[in-house]
Parts: sequence; C-alpha cells; structure tokens
Amino acid sequence: MAETTFQQFRNPLARLRRAAATQPDPTAARDRIRWLAFRLAFGTWLLMAVGSATRVANAGLACPDWPLCYGQALPWTQMNLQVFLEWFHRLDAGLLGLGTLGMVVMALGARRSLPRWVPPVTVLALVLIVAQAALGALTVTELLRFDIVTAHLGMALLFFCTLLTLGTALLPHRGMGSAGALRWLGGASAIAIYGQSIAGGLVGSRWALHQCLDLAQLCGTVHGHLLGIVPAVVLPATLLGRAWRTPALHPWLRRLRWAIAGLLGLQLLVGYGTFRLHLQIEPLTVLHQAVGAALLGSLVVFTVLACRDGQTGNQHAAIADPTP
Ligand code: HEM
Repeated sequence: MAETTFQQFRNPLARLRRAAATQPDPTAARDRIRWLAFRLAFGTWLLMAVGSATRVANAGLACPDWPLCYGQALPWTQMNLQVFLEWFHRLDAGLLGLGTLGMVVMALGARRSLPRWVPPVTVLALVLIVAQAALGALTVTELLRFDIVTAHLGMALLFFCTLLTLGTALLPHRGMGSAGALRWLGGASAIAIYGQSIAGGLVGSRWALHQCLDLAQLCGTVHGHLLGIVPAVVLPATLLGRAWRTPALHPWLRRLRWAIAGLLGLQLLVGYGTFRLHLQIEPLTVLHQAVGAALLGSLVVFTVLACRDGQTGNQHAAIADPTP
C-alpha cells in the first residue's frame, strides 16, 4: 500500500530519500567554483603581465582619471599603445571583479553542498580584489608612488594565490600519503618567491636599476633583490631535491616538479638577462614578472596538493592514474 503524506513525513528514510532527490548535486557546485577560480587565476596572471607591460611602457598614467579613462568607458579618440595598455588593464580588472562577485554569489547559494570553508574563502577573494581596486585607484591619484605600486603587485599576487588555493583544494584528488615534509618545503618556497617578487617590484617601481647605474643611488634596493636570490633558489632547490628522492610521489606532484624546475631556471635566466641588458629589452622585464608569478602559482598548487596528500581516501572522485 502506498504511504500517505503523513506517513512519509514521519518515516525518516522516506524523508532522506526525498531530500536527496531534491538537493543540488554537491559535485556540480564544487566543479563550478573550481572552474571559475582557475579561470579567474589565469585572468589575474594575465592582468599582472599587462600591469608590468603598462609600467615598462611608461603607461601608468596614460588614463589620467579613474575609474573611467578620459571620462569615457572606451576612449577611442585618445587611443594609442599606452592608453590601450592602461585601459585594457582596467577592463581585465573589472571583469575579474565581476567574476569574483559571481563566485561569491554561487558559493553562498550552494553553501549547503560545499565544504564549510569555501564561502569564506570566496569572500576573502572578493575583499582582496576590492582592496586591489582601491590600490589601483591610488596608484593613479598618487602619481605612481613606488610603495603603492609595490603594494598593488603584492595584493595581486595574494589574490592570485588565494584563487589557486581555492581551485586546487576543490580538485578531485586521492592522495598517496608520501608527500611528508614536502608541504612545509613547498610553503616556505612559495613565501620566499613571494618575498623575492615584492623585492623585485620595489626595484621596478623605483626604477632603482637605472638610478643605481646612472647616479649610484638606490643601489641598496637592487642589492636587496640580488641577495633575495639566495633563499628564492635554495628553498625551491631543496624542495625539488627532496621531491626527486621521494618514492611513489603522486603523479600530479611529479609533473609539478618539472614545472617548478623549468620555471625557476627560466626565471634566473630572464632575470640575469634583464640585469645584464640594463632593462633595454622591455618584453624581457614583462616576461620576468610573468614567469615569477607562474613559479609562485606552481609552488602554491604543489603545496596545497602536498597538504592534501595525507587524504588517501577517495576525495570527491578518484584521479585517472594515481600509480607512480
Ligand atoms: C626566483 C627568482 C626571482 C624572482 C621571483 C624575481 C621576481 C621579480 C619581480 C616580480 C620583479 C618585478 C617586475 C615588474 O615590476 O615588472 C623583478 C624585477 C627585477 N628583477 Fe627579479 N626575480 C628573480 C630573480 C632575479 C635575478 C636572478 C635577477 C638578476 C640577476 C633579477 C633582476 C631583476 C631586475 C633588474 C628587476 C627590475 C626590473 C625593472 O626595473 O623593470 N631578478 N623580479
């Protein structure tokens, strides 16, 4: 005999079955947030490269007002390479802001089917991008003051790392339990590369290399970045050495080892080239920024995956090939 509505209400099993049928798919919500977080991270990486190009092209004040450019959303009549770089930088930043707001709305809407930490982390990303927009406005109104320009880079990198942490923590993943101390080494390496990027940002925003070579001024700022190479190389090199000696390392961590090694080598080469050629090849300076950010991002992803390596159960879904 069919259950009456009253019986169904009293019967907990029937209630659970009904609830399962009506609840949103938890995997779908995770997948959507992860998808968006990784795309926003890519957009941020691009934005940082465009920001560096804007600086080396002396285009930081090409749009004299903020948030519009010459009082317009699209300044056709004033358009040249410098205006385009600054205008495109703002456009990309605006799209990232909207995307982050969308991610917060999605996370709050699906909060019941997401891990509890996800909505607060999306809100943190929103706070960071709002602070970033405020710093962006200050760089214009304060006429590219070097400390604000450097803080603008530091905040962009923090936002980038937050998005990558969020996306990586939501990846379907089954750990192998072999990462051990690699998570600490990964975290320490990421901090060293972040610090080295800020030190580099100071050199760039103060035009310190030019000043040091031409006027023997601000050489301390340049030397700070050169000294920073020591921890920025020793820590990732120790991480890589240890990772290469770790048996049965997760396939994703093994692939990331190669990416980190390649990006570190490339960054040292590009940095050396930038220095030796006295910043005369502008795309090289932009590449130095872009590779530095990619290296930091790879270390963040490595660290999050190494932290999750202890979770040897099936997390969300198994990966395709977890065998060494
Ligand atoms: C892992 C190591 C390194 C990292 C993460 C790093 C990161 C950075 C970053 C983020 C900038 C700011 C770029 C910009 O504002 O557009 C920078 C600037 C700079 N870096 Fe590095 N760097 C590293 C190694 C080196 C090395 C080995 C050298 C040279 C021997 C070097 C020389 C420079 C110079 C000269 C600048 C100033 C560029 C300018 O004034 O436009 N860097 N670095």
